[in-house]
Amino acid sequence: METINIALPKGRLGEKVYAMFKAAGYECPSIEEENRKLIFENPDKGVRYFWVKPSDVAIYVERGAADVGVAGKDILLEYRPDVYELADLGVGKCRMCVAGKKDFFDDRTQTLRVATKFPHIARTYYSSLSRDIDIIKLNGSIELAPILGLSDVIVDIVETGRTLLENGLEPREEIVPISARLIANKVSYKFKNAAIRRLAGAVGGRE
Ligand code: PRP
Repeated sequence: METINIALPKGRLGEKVYAMFKAAGYECPSIEEENRKLIFENPDKGVRYFWVKPSDVAIYVERGAADVGVAGKDILLEYRPDVYELADLGVGKCRMCVAGKKDFFDDRTQTLRVATKFPHIARTYYSSLSRDIDIIKLNGSIELAPILGLSDVIVDIVETGRTLLENGLEPREEIVPISARLIANKVSYKFKNAAIRRLAGAVGGRE
């Protein structure tokens, strides 16, 4: 049987996603054993899973190291990998938002300083509003930036809103809703078409 190589995002979302693949008939018992291995295969089901850093899934799939994978819409919008988006899995739901200090007022007279891990998403959003911005690219703990005066606002993911709340910030504008997407390598989609479509149909609820 043809093997489909699947890149799963390591972590809580990945475990939820694996449970969906399992329920769809693509189980791989060895992945459920506690260990530090990164590759798991079930030849009977024709699947090989890899645990990949969530932000790297699209790279594995774009370059064909994985045939399919699960990536957040945030990563797809930011890096625009050349892959097919086969299904919205309806998990990992959150929102890409502009957030700032409760008392921040944008009078639009000055360039807005925006701290973010998602410079492309931020640039696209503000250019659609014809607003001049200065991007401050950070890699984490984005919420600190407006508190310390490094930026006026942040563009970041909001899930429960707790991180903002506990740091005296509030969401101000929603840019786009985010969820996990099943993506496929374009060449694999052609050459393993039947197997990938069957998997997308079973996991994503449609072909
Ligand atoms: C994201 C985001 C916020 C937090 C929002 O970070 O950057 O900090 O989650 O979640 P909440 O609204 O439920 O509080 P993540 O946990 O993905 O870690 P990261 O900073 O490494 O990206």
